[in-house]
Amino acid sequence: MKTILVTGGAGFIGSNFAEIALQKNYKVIVLDSFTYAGHEASLEFAKGSPDFTLVKGDICDGALVLDLLQKHKVDGVINFAAESHVDNSINSPGVFIKTNVDGVYTMLEASRRYFNELPENKKQAFRFVQVSTDEVYGSLELDDGLKFSEETQYKPSSPYSASKAAGDHLAHAWFKTYGLPTIVTNCSNNYGPRQFPEKLIPRMILCALNGEKLPVYGDGKNVRDWIHVHDHSNGVLLAFERGNPGETYCFGGNAEVANINLVNQLCSTLDALNPLPDGSSYNKNITFVTDRAGHDRRYAIDDSKASKQLGFRRAYDFTSGLRATVTWYLENQAWCEEVR
Ligand SMILES: NC(=O)c1ccc[n+]([C@@H]2O[C@H](COP(=O)([O-])OP(=O)(O)OC[C@H]3O[C@@H](n4cnc5c(N)ncnc54)[C@H](O)[C@@H]3O)[C@@H](O)[C@H]2O)c1
Repeated sequence: MKTILVTGGAGFIGSNFAEIALQKNYKVIVLDSFTYAGHEASLEFAKGSPDFTLVKGDICDGALVLDLLQKHKVDGVINFAAESHVDNSINSPGVFIKTNVDGVYTMLEASRRYFNELPENKKQAFRFVQVSTDEVYGSLELDDGLKFSEETQYKPSSPYSASKAAGDHLAHAWFKTYGLPTIVTNCSNNYGPRQFPEKLIPRMILCALNGEKLPVYGDGKNVRDWIHVHDHSNGVLLAFERGNPGETYCFGGNAEVANINLVNQLCSTLDALNPLPDGSSYNKNITFVTDRAGHDRRYAIDDSKASKQLGFRRAYDFTSGLRATVTWYLENQAWCEEVR
């Protein structure tokens, strides 16, 4: 049985990943500092599990990280911990530099010290996976037909994506310079259960259910590629199990959707699953608001490398995944109340 340290495991993707890893018979140690985005309510699945340990702490605390690695004889690190919301990074970039740059540096240094003392057989299997975003690649044009891949040059636009880019570079440098077996994954927009309601899909669902305006940035034509969080989590696990040290793997959902189309699709899904008493559509509350500063126009991912080299396959298409997600939010109002 392998033991993995999952940082940020009380957040959206980290908690979904931890749940899948437990199901696949890993021992999971979650390290999370419980910012506004981390919640014990997202870890209900692990209650009573002898294979699960929760530690409240900061990834910037190198002594704590090293102690956890040594105490639990960890076989690998999956670093999800981050400040993750672009709008927050525009208003308060400092904490993004702290966690997404300094935090990654601290995790890498603690892992390097631990790794150097491992016996040879443990060294062979050890991996440090830095979970990152396609936003490091900047923006595509609406009509250029291009997609991001592992070869795309980094060109981040926001303080969030710039801080993630810095973390990715550090992870690669720790492989090249020190031989720490790091892997970087870059993924498109995730959706699914337990996403904090600041992000587009849960925010729109909850605004719609509360009869509030549904604010869409700019002209609504910005395009994102959407992947279900279970597909992304399985991809990260594959990268950990089969990926080559020093490599990058991109994951996407093969589901490019303009924001306005997404919000309309959400409204029609809600119309079907939770009809309004007067028979009108939730889309009557859609309203366009001033665009986000530096708003990237389009993201799209070519994940054929992960498909060929890791055997990555998606289980969800966007329409069924979105319906399952809306259903989850309708059935888990208590979670929404608690995290807000
Ligand atoms: N959400 C997406 O669409 C998406 C897409 C691609 C990549 N990613 C990346 O995946 C990772 C997870 O994203 P998410 O959407 O689950 O984020 P999230 O904001 O939901 O969760 C982040 C978690 O990290 C914890 N955390 C923050 N700072 C910490 C610190 N200093 N020490 C310990 N824990 C800390 C928070 O408490 C929270 O539990 C991030 O690195 C993000 O960049 C996200």
